[in-house]
Amino acid sequence: MLKLHLKSYPAALGVSLLCVVVAQAQPAAPAPDNGSLDVEQLFAGTCGFCHSDGGRAAGRGPQLMNSPRDDEFLHNRIKTGKQGAMPAFGESFNDAQIDQIVKYIRALKPRAG
Ligand code: HEC
Repeated sequence: MLKLHLKSYPAALGVSLLCVVVAQAQPAAPAPDNGSLDVEQLFAGTCGFCHSDGGRAAGRGPQLMNSPRDDEFLHNRIKTGKQGAMPAFGESFNDAQIDQIVKYIRALKPRAG
């Protein structure tokens, strides 16, 4: 009576596989003290493609560490991007979040060691 007919229950197998995947999902990283935005992680994922080493080195885009530009310029460049060079992020981040990103850029230091 308890004999399993696995072959006739592919859906059950699928569900159990799904459970494994869900169980492996990492819990969300705790919000750091800069509010809801983990800028370092965001930068690595969203900007690192063009601004290398967390903004410390040039890549497709310029090095951001020690930028001679003022905060307003950096803010606006992130917000509106530059045609053909950098995407605009004004839709992704609000002004307060962009300010956090500018703060992150200002705080960049060469990696120790
Ligand atoms: C597709 C590549 C690309 C991505 C992705 C990208 N950038 Fe840029 N970024 C550039 C380029 C190219 C420039 C130089 C634009 C110019 O010619 O003025 C630039 C310029 C900048 C500047 C101005 C620096 C300066 O001195 O002129 C800031 C600040 C900046 N990016 C921040 C960011 C941030 C923050 C992100 C992620 C949210 C990001 N960028 C994502 C390509 C990129």
